[in-house]
Amino acid sequence: MKVLILGSGAREHALAWAIERSKRNAGLFCLPGNAGTEDLALNLPGDPADPATVIKAWKSSGADLVVVGPEAPLAAGVADALRAEGAKVFGPGASAAMLESSKSFGRALADKAGVPCARTERFKTLPDFERWLGSHRGGRSAWASGTLVLKKSGLAAGKGVFESADRSELASFAAQVLADDELLVEEYLSGYELSVFALTDGTDYAILPPCADHKKALAGNLGPNTGGMGAICPVPSADKALMAMVDKHIVAPTFKMMAKEGLGYRGVLFFGIMVTQSGPKLLEYNVRWGDPETQSLFPLLATDPLDMLEAAAAGSVAGMEARLRDQAAVGVTVASGGYPGAYAKGIPVDELPPSDHNALVFHAGTARSKGRKLVTGGGRCFTVVGLGADYFEAHTHAMEAARKVRFEGAWFRPDIGKAFFLD
Ligand code: AMP
Ligand code: GLY
Repeated sequence: MKVLILGSGAREHALAWAIERSKRNAGLFCLPGNAGTEDLALNLPGDPADPATVIKAWKSSGADLVVVGPEAPLAAGVADALRAEGAKVFGPGASAAMLESSKSFGRALADKAGVPCARTERFKTLPDFERWLGSHRGGRSAWASGTLVLKKSGLAAGKGVFESADRSELASFAAQVLADDELLVEEYLSGYELSVFALTDGTDYAILPPCADHKKALAGNLGPNTGGMGAICPVPSADKALMAMVDKHIVAPTFKMMAKEGLGYRGVLFFGIMVTQSGPKLLEYNVRWGDPETQSLFPLLATDPLDMLEAAAAGSVAGMEARLRDQAAVGVTVASGGYPGAYAKGIPVDELPPSDHNALVFHAGTARSKGRKLVTGGGRCFTVVGLGADYFEAHTHAMEAARKVRFEGAWFRPDIGKAFFLD
């Protein structure tokens, strides 16, 4: 089977790595890919969110399956445009992609489905929000007088969520969001996060073993939110009982409501979940694989990735079971100086460890300069995934490899997964 992958991140590099090893692989193309996917696939130039560019690449590559990595092409209707041409596509159409591209839409569906979520208020104007904020200053409503989580409804590349207990900080973030979007205000939930992936063809679904992302920039889960500083797989606390609760209260009701609303879906629905003392609660829906979760999950798969991806794209998820090898993976994001704030791109990479059986190195947005020198291309530059018989071995391998990624300003969180095993 020939496959075209859309996107240029470490998630797409990990998908390419897994597909390239599949017995069924008969040719791999990435649009646009990065300097890492170049070694596994033919990189095609162009914007993956432009339907005409993607259709042209699909036709010229002769791909039997198109796998859409990021949310932007899905929200732009790339999957719809490809399907209209007769392509087999992994990824939902634009109307179902609204589950992610409009948090307001996603939350409305979760509420209709009776899925447990944080208490939420929605605002369209700053005076309404400020009036509401002021009215809670005296602690009339316990949840609204402490730390609040503010969310921009539309896509924000991991930068649309802000937590604070400081009223003036909250008001200034709200003003930025409300200048051109809707604002969601949520109760702050404590607990630990789980990323749960359900493959679906719109009728049946199969839940994969979950991962745990680490969203905060600094060790000890401190500092600002990021797109994800590292992820572990599997997650020891996510036992059968917890996953059964997640299915019963969150996944099953969501798919039931989607069917009722006529939201067709072929791909993966990613449930961002906070496991609280009163049970798992949904934080958000994403309409794609997680980044960096994919980099930790796919290297552990015992199931052929093309069987999984094709089943969702072609409508045969019934009976599908994604199995993992009996190993652990610790994925660590190596980021650029300044991230998640302002950072430079195009920084020369002086040293990069090779991928081997102990650690895999996935590139995000990297490129080759004119002199063929490897240069960075974003805030999160690489994901290094340590593999091992258990968490401790995988963590050691991840640290050894992460320390060998050398470019000016490179940094990473050394404690990925620690809270799940040591605290
Ligand atoms: P979201 O884009 O909605 O997943 O939010 C991004 C990140 O912000 C999540 O992965 C959490 O780390 C954090 N977050 C979002 N909503 C809440 C909440 N209600 N309580 C605590 N943390 C949250
Ligand atoms: N790691 C979280 C995400 O992909 O949105």
